[in-house]
Order: sequence, then C-alpha cells, then structure tokens
Amino acid sequence: MSDANSPATTPGGFLLCACQGGAEAALKARMAEVLPVAKAAAWRRGVVSFKLPPADASPAASSAALPADLLERLVFARTAVHSLGQVTGVDQATLAAAAVELAGRTGFANVHVWPRQFEAGPRGAEAVAAAAESRRILLAGCGLAGELDPVATPGDRVLDVVMDTPDRWWVGWHRATDPATCWPGGIYPPATLPLPEAVVSRAWLKLDEAIATFGIAWGPGARVVELGSAPGGACQRLLEDGLEVVGVDPALVDSTVAAQPTFTQWRMRAREVPLRRFAGVHWLLADMNIDPKSTLESLGRVATAKGVKLEGIVATLKIPDWSRAGELPAWLAAFRDWGFEPRAKQLSSGGREVCVVARRAGSVVESRPLRARPARRRPAE
Ligand SMILES: C[S@@+](CC[C@H](N)C(=O)[O-])C[C@H]1O[C@@H](n2cnc3c(N)ncnc32)[C@H](O)[C@@H]1O
Repeated sequence: MSDANSPATTPGGFLLCACQGGAEAALKARMAEVLPVAKAAAWRRGVVSFKLPPADASPAASSAALPADLLERLVFARTAVHSLGQVTGVDQATLAAAAVELAGRTGFANVHVWPRQFEAGPRGAEAVAAAAESRRILLAGCGLAGELDPVATPGDRVLDVVMDTPDRWWVGWHRATDPATCWPGGIYPPATLPLPEAVVSRAWLKLDEAIATFGIAWGPGARVVELGSAPGGACQRLLEDGLEVVGVDPALVDSTVAAQPTFTQWRMRAREVPLRRFAGVHWLLADMNIDPKSTLESLGRVATAKGVKLEGIVATLKIPDWSRAGELPAWLAAFRDWGFEPRAKQLSSGGREVCVVARRAGSVVESRPLRARPARRRPAE
C-alpha cells in the first residue's frame, strides 16, 4: 500500500476502507488493533474512513508508508483507498468532471467506480449500470480507453470513485497489488452478475474467490473432504480442478455433483465420521451453518488425529452476530495450536462469515500465482 509517487504522500489524509454492510464496527476494531494510530472517522454503511497521522508524527503509519499487509490483517476490509476528497453534482457528467479535476487527469492506469453499498435486486442492478456509465465518462476524462477491463493489473495506479449518493461521490486512489485490490470495490468480479445455472450453489463462487484470493494450490489429484457439503457448489468447484472429493453432510448433495465418478458422499454429521477415513486426505474444507466453535471442534478433531497429515484447511466460520467478531483472534489461534498458519478474510461473495485458509506450518507450499481474473467455468457434463 505504500507509494512514493502519489498525491497521498502528502502528510496525513484519510484512508477509505470498503466492507460488507454491517461489518463496520468489526473493521474499526481490527484497525484499532492492527494500526492504532489510524483513527476511525466518518462511516456509512459499507465504508469506514480512518484519519492517518501526519508523516512526521508517525512515519511508519503515514499514508506514504502503510504496512504492506494492512489489508490482509484488517480481515473485514474489502479494499482500501487513499481519499482525495468528495465531489457533489446534479448529474454524472458534472460529478465526473469534478472528480477528474480533483484527482488530476493523468497518472491512472485504470478507473474503479463502485456503489458504497452493493445491493441485490433491481436497485442493485441500477447502481451497477450507473457505475458502468460513470466509469465510461471517467475513463474518457483520464484519457483511458473506453473498453478497458475493470479488473486492474497488479502495479496499476487506480482512480477510485465511491458512489455515496446519486449527487455525492468520494474520490480516491489505490495501487493494485493483491487480487482483491484489482477488483472494483474489492468485489470478486462475477459476484455482481447472476451465477450461471449450472452452478449448484453460491458456495461455488465463495470457493472460487478463496482460491483467487489466497492462491490455493491443491496439488495434482489431491484428496479433499468438505464438512457441510450440501447442496454441493464447493464440491463442484473442487471437481473442476480434477480432485478426488468427499462431501460430508446429512443432507443430500445435488445429483449432478453426486454423479461425478471422483465424488463420494458420507451422509452423516462431521463428528460421526470415523477418524481413520481421513488418512490420505490432503485438504479439509468446512462450510457448516453452525456456531464457529462447533466448526473448530470438528476441524480440530481431524487436524490433530493420529495418522492424519493434512496439507491445509479452508474453513468458513459463520459469525452468528457481529458481537462475536472480536473472537476471531482466538479462532485463528486454534489453527496455530494444530500446527497451521492461518490467513483470514471476509470474502465479498460470502455472508456474515470469515474464510480462513490455513496451511501446515513449515510446509513448502507450492502456491498458484495469485490471479485477479475469475476462473473460467467449465460447462457441466
Ligand atoms: C451453507 S450449507 C453448505 C453449502 C455447501 N458447502 C455447498 O457447497 O453447497 C451448510 C451445510 O452444513 C450442513 N451441516 C450443518 N451441520 C453439520 C454437521 N455437524 N456436519 C455436517 N454437515 C453439517 C448442513 O446440512 C448444510 O447442508
């Protein structure tokens, strides 16, 4: 996030962090822990701003030198943008002209325009259409090609416009680095589109985003077990990677997934599966709609079992209510106790939950190169 050649090298300034609507308090609490000198300022549903200290007061935390892993450590931030200010106007053309004036016409390799809060339904579709139209005007204003892919390339300096209300935008910029910072608003690109019919559940998309975000590499022909697998979207995504997949769930998995030759279902609760069945399993996934403590108990039972040597874990930890978000450090500590190195993020395609990807500590991990672009779906067979 540090950047020496930008307007934000001026001392102080504000950082705008996008998050899931409702996650604002959790995000502020993470910032207070990770970078206490950044003080929470204004917030609206979906965006929190933080006042950064002047560079001479706290050089290590100035806007010119934020910790490179800040976004990852914030967990609940989708993306972070250096604020340049607000513009107001009666229509998109006036707003866009004011935004370009404020940011300066040159020096941007891409433009991200996103509504402060993503909504489903017709209002959401209207906001996405307005964002696309505004982006077209802004691209022209910045001298960029109208057909430029909104997914930025790592290294790009990106102009950000956050559509707060129809007559007010927040303007800022960021440097694209890891995959989520390449996506407008940190939203995994297909999340704004209807999912193709062949995808069995939204969990397909969550896992696809987790793979892109964390650069998960399963290893060829790996054996993977998912606890909480019905109706089967995540298993479908795993099968697309050519893996040997077992789904554990008392509920039935969709017939298109169940029919795949490399898929098996153990129709029972996670804790009923005899531990010897996990010998030879490389990755363990969990996506159960139960309390995170119960998910951790089910995972820990397997991860610490004699004769089981997992390479990694991908776990969805549901947050039953936002007051429980503060327990996240303790949840992550459990993975460390089992001998794993956890990373966590609230994915843009998930609900009130956190995705934890944990690799065995000290293992030489062959990660895939991080990819900002969504995977191409294979047609269902
Ligand atoms: C959010 S859905 C999982 C979605 C699934 N991962 C997919 O890809 O479609 C939650 C699932 O957890 C299952 N579940 C809840 N408690 C469980 C337990 N103790 N053991 C196994 N599955 C459980 C439920 O039956 C339900 O199918």
